Amino acid sequence: FRRLGLRGMKQRLLVVANRLPVSANRRGEDQWSLEISAGGLVSALLGVKDVDAKWIGWAGVNVPDEVGQQALTNALAEKRCIPVFLDEEIVHQYYNGYCNNILWPLFHYLGLPQEDRLATTRNFESQFDAYKRANQMFADVVYQHYQEGDVIWCHDYHLMFLPRCLKEHDINMKVGWFLHTPFPSSEIYRTLPSRSELLRSVLCADLVGFHTYDYARHFVSACTRILGLEGTPEGVEDQGKLTRVAAFPIGIDSDRFKRALDIDAAKRHVNELKQRFAGRKVMLGVDRLDMIKGIPQKILAFEKFLEENPEWIDKVVLLQIAVPTRTDVPEYQKLTSQVHEIVGRINGRFGTLSAVPIHHLDRSLDFHALCALYAVTDVALVTSLRDGMNLVSYEYVACQGSKKGVLILSEHNRLVLVPFL
Ligand code: G6P
Repeated sequence: FRRLGLRGMKQRLLVVANRLPVSANRRGEDQWSLEISAGGLVSALLGVKDVDAKWIGWAGVNVPDEVGQQALTNALAEKRCIPVFLDEEIVHQYYNGYCNNILWPLFHYLGLPQEDRLATTRNFESQFDAYKRANQMFADVVYQHYQEGDVIWCHDYHLMFLPRCLKEHDINMKVGWFLHTPFPSSEIYRTLPSRSELLRSVLCADLVGFHTYDYARHFVSACTRILGLEGTPEGVEDQGKLTRVAAFPIGIDSDRFKRALDIDAAKRHVNELKQRFAGRKVMLGVDRLDMIKGIPQKILAFEKFLEENPEWIDKVVLLQIAVPTRTDVPEYQKLTSQVHEIVGRINGRFGTLSAVPIHHLDRSLDFHALCALYAVTDVALVTSLRDGMNLVSYEYVACQGSKKGVLILSEHNRLVLVPFL
């Protein structure tokens, strides 16, 4: 905050992210229910305290009518949230298409989809065009709420074009941009057809942040190699203008998790879980159902373990919470079927009349139930193939207290040791 020029509670912060921290569901013409959105970005930013902040973003729902838009705007205002309304076509091209079918896999080293390797495909161009239009729509909402002196903090790969829109509107706006995913090696990044335009736009920000030093270094070398700009120890310089680039490893509000375990509902969950799994060791996976999380690999490793150690059949269970995500993107639909198929096969193979080895849930849990699971399980398995900064590992440790369960992390996860460890 200091580096962005935030001097304390009096200065306002406008957080801009594709997704609001709450997602909306329609219950009637002007009735909405709100629930906490899934994902690391939201978990991390819920820990931001002691600043006067408002959050601008999409509520995850198409609201074509004015009555609905007004009612949702009012419901969100209580949560200090301001909605950006995106229609179905924009969501399809910008969110499902450019963000989640192109940038997300590329930034996690999964490459570009086959049909987009040729820069000139019309599909790619129309998606990139929608991406820029969507970023402009976020910028328009920022302008409506901006007051001189506000700091604007843009988040993630969805909004790489936003710093440019904001600075073109008012060069004096203080703008930061933070990436919650890895920034890949410049050798990977340079395969993106719109590489230069996006880099130039991000460089319009005053401060650019990444989870780790490696991601920051990759970004600076992409600017050097692709744009021919000079990298300095402070950041990237272009014709005398310096954009500062730095690593800010993100964490969680660990007290929020510890406090949750003192609530009666959580204590009840803990007791129920202990009874239900008495006599068995419990392994836990908590992930969005995303290809980068390595869920099929985790389940297949568990199968191999049972195959090689048959004495553990009936004595160990894997609980996999797989929160559905980006369900309109074909790659995610294929992954869901693949995971279901593998779980069914393994349960058929190693299940007994009294128990199955894998409990797989296609949904999120309420916060207290989740904390209880973290508290009672013996092992947490975080098996991402690549991840920006996986926060499940932090959440597990925060809830374990004196239990001393085992956290197993794949080598592609980032974990920054925190004081309570
Ligand atoms: C990751 C991204 C976030 C995103 C979250 C959930 O953590 O970095 O920007 O919000 O996944 O994904 P979704 O597409 O549902 O917003």
